[in-house]
Amino acid sequence: MTKNKKLAELVNSTAQLCRPDRVHWCDGSDEEYRLMLRLMVHGGTAILMDGKLRPNSVFVRSDPADVARVEDQTYICSERQEDSGPTNNWVDPKEIKAVLTKLFTGSMRGRTMYVIPYSMGPTGSPIAKIGVELTDSPYVVANMHIMTRVGTEVLDTLGDNGDFVTGLHSVGAPLPDNSSPDAPWPCNAENKYICHFPETREIWSFGSGYGGNALLGKKCHSLRIASVQARDEGWLAEHMLILKFTSPEGRVSYITGAFPSACGKTNLAMMIPTVPGWKVETIGDDIAWMKFGADGRLYAINPEAGFFGVAPGTSMKSNANAMLTVSENSIFTNCAITPENDVWWEGMTDEEPAELIDWLRRPWHPGCGRNAAHPNARFTTPVRQCPVAAPEWEDPNGVPIDAILFGGRRAGIVPLVTEAFDWQHGTFLGASASSETTSAAAGKVGELRRDPMAMLPFCGYHMGDYLRHWLNIGSNGNEKKLPKIFYVNWFRRNSAGDFLWPGFGENSRVLKWIVERVAGDAEAVDTPIGRLPAPGSLDLGGLDIDPKVMDELLHVDIEGWLEEVPLIAEYFDQFGDRLPEGLRHELSAMEERLRLLRTEA
Ligand code: GTP
Ligand code: SPV
Ligand code: MN
Repeated sequence: MTKNKKLAELVNSTAQLCRPDRVHWCDGSDEEYRLMLRLMVHGGTAILMDGKLRPNSVFVRSDPADVARVEDQTYICSERQEDSGPTNNWVDPKEIKAVLTKLFTGSMRGRTMYVIPYSMGPTGSPIAKIGVELTDSPYVVANMHIMTRVGTEVLDTLGDNGDFVTGLHSVGAPLPDNSSPDAPWPCNAENKYICHFPETREIWSFGSGYGGNALLGKKCHSLRIASVQARDEGWLAEHMLILKFTSPEGRVSYITGAFPSACGKTNLAMMIPTVPGWKVETIGDDIAWMKFGADGRLYAINPEAGFFGVAPGTSMKSNANAMLTVSENSIFTNCAITPENDVWWEGMTDEEPAELIDWLRRPWHPGCGRNAAHPNARFTTPVRQCPVAAPEWEDPNGVPIDAILFGGRRAGIVPLVTEAFDWQHGTFLGASASSETTSAAAGKVGELRRDPMAMLPFCGYHMGDYLRHWLNIGSNGNEKKLPKIFYVNWFRRNSAGDFLWPGFGENSRVLKWIVERVAGDAEAVDTPIGRLPAPGSLDLGGLDIDPKVMDELLHVDIEGWLEEVPLIAEYFDQFGDRLPEGLRHELSAMEERLRLLRTEA
């Protein structure tokens, strides 16, 4: 219970609207987490894993119609349509609230309404923000326990008059009467709405129980709503990992990186470097909030407390630290189950298990022609269990950032690494980034699309204004102290479709070059698209890679880039006069440099 007036009224009015059987105020305790697991087990949502094998952990299989973020049904409901911009879905806030109020009416009948007070960022930190999610899903409660800081301490911090971001969530599957059985994964197949009201800092989410649609502290609060707050208050809320990189001499650098969903943030954040003596430690794997410190530098915190990571492809070889993190207190969603009641997914082991129950509860054996785990199967697991969590991962003041990476999945053209000439050029590299779509969102996989700063699905306002905000951040008097910007691509392929670069731990070679560039210790060559590693400056010691492949990875494809120019121009054009002039200038300057080089060649 609470003395906070806004919260008391919200809980009352929501209970009256949604008609739950009970209201449960979450205290964030271990007992509460275990209660949620038991409720899920008894409701058929979850299977408890062997207590010795993986204590306090469950398998969950969702409805096949509810397996990923739904970008088509995600809306930015700003008062004026032009403020949501051409890359977001928009509906009038009054109209949609009328529709949603109808849908929410009685939507929690037969269920419990959970009140989840949570903090994004260490409770009480000057950078942290409080939210309250009201939900009828124990799966959401258990996940929020891991992903955020939940409980009584948050209510204390909120006090009588503190403000918070409101999150209303229902799976949209009321139980008609007390004798009707529940579905293992209740959701609403016909109506899914993930709505954001940036002016009033509200989120209304209906019909989905999965990931970013339902764990409202994550993408909805920490990116879509927070990006608006960040614009208003002069900071950055970004879809970025945060890592600590330490040289053999003990020199520490902090790096953030924005790659689109399922493009390598979790893997980079906890990689084991192959360059001897270097160390990577994790601060965060998905979201960074960056603010200027008193010294004029940008400091980042990870607002989250857990990882909601892509399971397929994760193995002791590719990401041992993630494998070790999920040893207990974890939730496995849409993975396969072994006869020993342990978890499995594609790529986890070299040899496939002889038999499994797949994520659709069917028998599975090697060669049966189906994936055992859904491609967007995920683990939810606490950061504190990560063997390489940096000791300062919860520092309320954040860590000072030395370099920012942008990137994506590009089979061609984009080199392994490019350094921006300056902040404006770096903003241009981020703004024009593109990537092949993945199964993290419902829809086609492998389609190339522009995804500025990996924020296309997560920016809570007009993308043109967002890009202007990035330029403003770089012209506030702290220019000399800003992080350097780099553009990376681990995903170049040859004509047979194989990756050219080994990736994962070998990416440390690129990180090393990056921090050496920041320190002024490595050579680069100027090219029309930015600065690339000078011959010999990328440490390839001990790596068995064909020099011809390296040439291709670091080649500037003049014709390919000239073909990109009109595509970028067309993308920019949709922002009209909201596109900052500086980015148009960067595009034509790049085109000019490319044409000049072509003439010289
Ligand atoms: P979200 O949680 O959706 O935001 O994704 P993410 O950016 O954290 O991506 P993640 O690290 O989970 O990687 C997604 C997929 O890319 C996994 O299947 C990885 O195995 C694969 N991957 C990650 N890093 C590399 C790399 O360096 N090279 C290659 N080839 N694949 C990689
Ligand atoms: C992403 O899609 O970028 C994720 C997973 O990190 S979700 O929480 O579903 O957004
Ligand atoms: Mn993500």
